[in-house]
Amino acid sequence: MKKIIVTGGAGFIGSNLLNYLVPLHTDILFINLDKLTYAANLHSLADIEGAPNYIFEQGDIADQSAVTGLFRKYEPDGVIHLAAESHVDRSIVDPDSFMRTNIMGTFYLLETCRQQWKRDGNHMFHHVSTDEVYGSLGETGLFTEDTRYDPSSPYSAAKASSDHIVRAYHRTYGLPVRVTNCSNNYGPRQFPEKLIPLMILNALEGNPLPVYGKGNNVRDWLYVQDHCEAIWLVFQKGKTGETYNIGGSCEKRNIDVVRLICRALSEETGRPPDDFEKLITYVADRPGHDLRYAIDSSKLKAELGWQPNETFESGLRKTVRWYMDNDEWIEKVRTGEYRKWIAKNYGDR
Ligand code: NAD
Ligand code: DAU
Repeated sequence: MKKIIVTGGAGFIGSNLLNYLVPLHTDILFINLDKLTYAANLHSLADIEGAPNYIFEQGDIADQSAVTGLFRKYEPDGVIHLAAESHVDRSIVDPDSFMRTNIMGTFYLLETCRQQWKRDGNHMFHHVSTDEVYGSLGETGLFTEDTRYDPSSPYSAAKASSDHIVRAYHRTYGLPVRVTNCSNNYGPRQFPEKLIPLMILNALEGNPLPVYGKGNNVRDWLYVQDHCEAIWLVFQKGKTGETYNIGGSCEKRNIDVVRLICRALSEETGRPPDDFEKLITYVADRPGHDLRYAIDSSKLKAELGWQPNETFESGLRKTVRWYMDNDEWIEKVRTGEYRKWIAKNYGDR
């Protein structure tokens, strides 16, 4: 039986990926290696918990002996590496864990693969990364796979370092790797520190909707299922050593996203849009805030035939409904730690 270790499988994208792959590929054993940080939620994996081709292992990728032991135990054929500290604002307040997990954790995974994998063409290390490594665009242009790296935040700098180390392991040791750099994801199971779920939950509870700066920063939004399908396509059929950009071709200013959320909530609840829009509050900007991200996914489309299926309108409606229908999930992540973060980040902003 083929075995794939998915790191960070209890987080937002990892749990959506496992919920998609485990029922679909019963001939593959998926091993979810996750430290269970504040961002994880095992409730996200309830539907696949008992599946015979799924195993959960709690562990820290920045603990080299734990990683080595786990690889000896399972002898995986592949790794899909998603584990990371992922929130830009937290990386500004407390960058330490970002360097440890995103850089050293990736290094230990690669080093273990280098030591344990035979060069028989049967292995693959897929590194899941972000478009933030490219820094900020001006008013025009798109990020391509050849755009120069220019990260702005401790988060994106740590992800950029990890991308370089992954490629170095390919060039130096011939380790079979693939890298994907994706734009902003949204959808079910996203921790409510990120823009879209934070705004949905704040709006439903009548709390302020904190828009950084003037709300003119632009992000390129992609529904998480479309990202998961792209990851699987590249993992299976991409060219070894190559990088693929993934994006939604869906650029939106933050303020417009927040207004669309208010409109979707109004349609779902039957309340007037102003009930939600009046909560919009402009707050101090994020330091080093990148102005605009936009991805050119033409390589992925031309080589592997990928297309996103969800429009922003349909994806946002699904997302709003999911947060309205999943109180139990929400309660699991909104712990004391969550409330502390909200107070720290927004308290005197
Ligand atoms: P997330 O914060 O929701 O989840 C991260 C997961 O990694 C959590 O389950 C956490 O417990 C786990 N983790 C953290 N440190 C760990 C460690 N030391 N050892 C083992 N597990 C650890 O993140 P996400 O949004 O699902 O992002 C997943 C990956 O995708 C990240 O690498 C991120 O950089 C990348 N990415 C995210 C987006 C996005 O919009 N969310 C876009 C592009 C790329
Ligand atoms: O581009 C891919 C990246 O997208 C991923 O690599 C990151 O892991 C992921 O967190 C995301 O990063 P962003 O910083 O773009 O996402 P976030 O949801 O934090 O913010 C989106 C935009 O909204 C950004 O311009 C900042 C703004 N914002 C965010 C929050 C949390 C606000 O205006 N108010 C807020 O309260």
